[in-house]
Amino acid sequence: MNSSSIIALRGVTKIFQIDDIETHALSSVDLQIDKGEFVSITGPSGCGKSTLMSILGLLDSATSGLYTLNGTRVDLLTDSARAKVRSHEVGFVFQAFNLIGDLTILENVELPLAYREGISRAERRDRAIEVLERVGMTHRAKHFPAQLSGGQQQRVALARALIGQPAILLADEPTGNLDSKNGESVMQLLCEVHSTGSTICMVTHDPRYAALADRQVFMFDGAVVPSGCTS
Ligand SMILES: Nc1ncnc2c1ncn2[C@@H]1O[C@H](COP(=O)(O)OP(=O)(O)OP(=O)(O)O)[C@@H](O)[C@H]1O
Ligand SMILES: [Mg+2]
Repeated sequence: MNSSSIIALRGVTKIFQIDDIETHALSSVDLQIDKGEFVSITGPSGCGKSTLMSILGLLDSATSGLYTLNGTRVDLLTDSARAKVRSHEVGFVFQAFNLIGDLTILENVELPLAYREGISRAERRDRAIEVLERVGMTHRAKHFPAQLSGGQQQRVALARALIGQPAILLADEPTGNLDSKNGESVMQLLCEVHSTGSTICMVTHDPRYAALADRQVFMFDGAVVPSGCTS
């Protein structure tokens, strides 16, 4: 791994075992993502993209292999240490937005900072307003998620992912639930976020969106297809 890597995976394997059925979701994946890079991941349904994102985002752990995130060997950490690294280093955007329905937009965006030490309520609020400005959603701060369109909800979800200033922004099919107009506008926003220095790893089924990334990674059957074998 070179010093500018945010993510380095080596030989990462994930096997799900349910009763006597074993699914090899990832088979010896090597992946490196550098600081400031925008990487897209594409591949057929069931090839392991979401499994890879869950491992990258420390929502799940690998069966075997090495994972270094922003200089820390996260595969060696205890659960509580991993949770702390996750809350500081990872921002997640999901296909289904996943906003909390009975919190306002502002409260949703503040949430990732709620359990951070050393951040006052006032600072939390200021930072939430700042990220809402970045995604053009301050005018909806007092609304509830159900009162927003899908595209607007995804903008808010992006603000929530950015408020903690994560080392990596992970987006799993961020446009998957949006029509093409809203999808394009969320993609444009992701590109803007990238242009201000954020490191992004995005899964998408849409080849036009995948092509907007600095680098495209293709997966097949639990493995990363070596570059040069994809055309
Ligand atoms: N929690 C789980 N338990 C058991 N098997 C799982 C689990 N999560 C995923 N799998 C299996 O692992 C494989 C990879 O699934 P994954 O969700 O990573 O695919 P994907 O590439 O994201 O697909 P899609 O494009 O449809 O979202 C599939 O065979 C899936 O059934
Ligand atoms: Mg998936």
